[in-house]
Amino acid sequence: MTAVINALSGDHHNLTALLRALEAQVTTLKGGGQADLEVVELVLGYCRRYGDQVHHPLENLVYDRLCETDAQLKGVLGAVCQDHVLIDESTKNLLEEVRDLMENCRPPTADLTRQLAAFIEGYHKHMAQEDKVLFPLAQERLSPMDWTVVEARAQNLPGAIYAQQVQERFLALRDYIHRLQRLDETDE
Ligand SMILES: [Fe+2]
Repeated sequence: MTAVINALSGDHHNLTALLRALEAQVTTLKGGGQADLEVVELVLGYCRRYGDQVHHPLENLVYDRLCETDAQLKGVLGAVCQDHVLIDESTKNLLEEVRDLMENCRPPTADLTRQLAAFIEGYHKHMAQEDKVLFPLAQERLSPMDWTVVEARAQNLPGAIYAQQVQERFLALRDYIHRLQRLDETDE
C-alpha cells in the first residue's frame, strides 16, 4: 500500500471510530434521552478540522492525478469531489448549530437529530465507496512517479501542518471521549 493510501485509510479508520461515538449520541436522542453535546461537538470539530481541511484535500489530489492519467474517470471522480464539498458544508453547518445550542443551553431538536443521522449514514457510504473502489483503483493506476507528484502537491496544502499531528490528536480525542462516556455511565 502506498504511503498516501495508507494515511487516507488510517483517517477512515479514525473517522469511523468517531462517527460511532456520534451515532451513540444520536441513538440516545432518538430514544428520548439527553445527548452529550460535548461529544457531538468534539466529533464534528474533528471532522471539520481533519476531515474537511486535511483528509478531503489530500483525497482530491489523488483523484486529480487519476483524472490527469485517464480523462474518462473525470465523471465519477468529479462526483466524489463534489461529495467532499457537500460533506464539508454539512459538517460546518452542523457544528455551528451544535455550538449555538451549547451556548444557549438549548436541547437538540428532532430535525437536528435527523440531520446528524443522515450525516453519519452519508459519511459511511462515501468512505465505503472510496475504500472498496477508488483507493484500489488509485493503487492500480498510479505509478510511483504519480505518487511522488501527489506527495509533493500535498506539501503545499493549507492543512499540511495539521496532517503531521493527526494520529496523536485522534488518539487524545478518542481517549477523552471514552472518559466522558464513562462519566455519563457513572451518572446513570
Ligand atoms: Fe472522500
